[in-house]
Amino acid sequence: MNIVLLGAPGAGKGTQAQKLVEEFGLAHISTGDLLRAAVKAQSELGLQAKAYMDAGKLVPDQLVINLVKERLQADDAQAGFILDGFPRNTAQAVTLDSELAAMERNLDAALLVDVKPDVIVKRLSSRRTCRSCGYTAPAGVDVCPRCGGEMYQRDDDKPETIQKRLDVYQTQTAPLIEYYRGHSILKEVDGDRPVDEVYADVRALLTA
Ligand code: AP5
Repeated sequence: MNIVLLGAPGAGKGTQAQKLVEEFGLAHISTGDLLRAAVKAQSELGLQAKAYMDAGKLVPDQLVINLVKERLQADDAQAGFILDGFPRNTAQAVTLDSELAAMERNLDAALLVDVKPDVIVKRLSSRRTCRSCGYTAPAGVDVCPRCGGEMYQRDDDKPETIQKRLDVYQTQTAPLIEYYRGHSILKEVDGDRPVDEVYADVRALLTA
């Protein structure tokens, strides 16, 4: 199963991806996690990406595309993958299609987790993320339930940056909904319900 997850920042893409990984053993390719790891490691990529991420802007396409290309070649991605946070604009979507075609692979579904902006702002303001493994949970969880790491608030989860990220989503990423509808692989789920209810629908849509 090869899946793209679509949805606004904070819609719950990472949360649903974690559950799909647990059940189906797919490779979770989150460009946000990969970029945050590069920032933490202070690599050349991380140094270039940090200012864009802190401002809530998209990192330049070529930097992200190179990361994804490399990750798609890895052994664990051969049996199936979830792309979380990629593609983020039409140029990335077109590049992904041609990369997959060159690998003689294809996408089975583009799953939109749909949540309204006012819910997003509340969720992101109270989100905490594990410094070690990237696990996310609401505020109040201080120790990561998955690996015991420290939970912290991401720099881009501050109110002014959240609004910028939502604007970027509307102008650059939301057009991909029509892109994938046009490819007849769009599936939609209402993400404004308890996590397990959302997942029950996600599972049903992907295994139908
Ligand atoms: P990235 O890390 O991809 O951030 P994002 O898309 O903004 O998504 P988030 O991780 O914020 O949200 P999510 O949908 O995964 O929600 P989550 O499950 O955590 O990108 C960060 C930055 O990196 C970008 O701004 C950009 O600069 C750069 N970048 C990344 N990819 C790029 C690309 N392809 N091109 C260029 N630049 C790129 O849930 C959120 C919260 O809600 C959590 O606290 C969770 O516990 C809670 N929650 C989840 N589901 C529910 C539910 N059903 N009910 C109640 N609470 C819930």
